[in-house]
Amino acid sequence: MKIISCVAIKGGVGKTTLTYNFGEWLAEQGYNVLLIDADSQCSLSQTYNVYTTDGTIGEIFYNKGHRVNFLKVKKNITLIAGDVDLEYANYDIFTKPNKELLMYMWLRDYYEDKLKEYDYILIDCHPDFSVITQNMVIVSDFIFSPLEPSEFGFTAKANLELRFERLKSEAINVVTRESFVTAKLKFIANRVKHNTKSSKEFLEAIKNSQDIIAIVPEKELFNRSTLDFESLSDMEKNTMLKQKNKEFFESINKIFEDLRVKIEEE
Ligand SMILES: Nc1ncnc2c1ncn2[C@@H]1O[C@H](COP(=O)(O)OP(=O)(O)OP(=O)(O)O)[C@@H](O)[C@H]1O
Ligand SMILES: [Mg+2]
Repeated sequence: MKIISCVAIKGGVGKTTLTYNFGEWLAEQGYNVLLIDADSQCSLSQTYNVYTTDGTIGEIFYNKGHRVNFLKVKKNITLIAGDVDLEYANYDIFTKPNKELLMYMWLRDYYEDKLKEYDYILIDCHPDFSVITQNMVIVSDFIFSPLEPSEFGFTAKANLELRFERLKSEAINVVTRESFVTAKLKFIANRVKHNTKSSKEFLEAIKNSQDIIAIVPEKELFNRSTLDFESLSDMEKNTMLKQKNKEFFESINKIFEDLRVKIEEE
């Protein structure tokens, strides 16, 4: 089982869109996927028409997670719903010892019981590096951070790298001095436009960056997927749509497959 969190300090860069579509793609390939909505905006939950306030991710931070609901939303996809009050949890847990390790402890408690059956756990985070997000980083094997193809993107990248390294050096086992952070931080260039001057410059600038592991094109179908609550994998089943966007579907399937292979290889 691999755990991947989608993290970015900046809002609107594609965290939910990528989590949703990558998760749906994995499920379509036959993998058992657990989606966790760790964003108080609850966008990922809304994609599945889930608006519950019971058994949400908040349980992990308030009640040790005994009452978390595992919602079967689709074949091969289970969801732990987001919590609109999750941002307050950041304040409520602030004085707790081990406040960054509450998710870690929950995972340990529930691994044998509930979590073992999942091939991939994908976590969609709020745009920040708050204590809640840090909890998600600590349990992850990978952090995927979508990046805008612009100068702002590079600033955001440096910003996240700094915070990530700081957490890595601070969240340590006090006895062994080993860090609880074992995740690899990887970036995904998102919304890269086709054949524009700026996109060419961007691609040139990142050519040798080992930590940018995917380049995802700007495509209206992504927008439609989040607006209409229909994943790219489902859209692809529409023969006409598939035919019309043949190249795009081929390229996105390849991008997702390469991502999955990288997750397994590293
Ligand atoms: N590759 C893409 N091509 C076109 N539109 C995209 C692409 N990726 C994301 N979008 C669109 O950008 C908008 C923001 O994406 P999304 O909601 O996934 O960002 P986010 O990082 O989760 O935002 P927030 O920080 O608010 O949670 C959405 O309307 C989405 O459909
Ligand atoms: Mg989001």
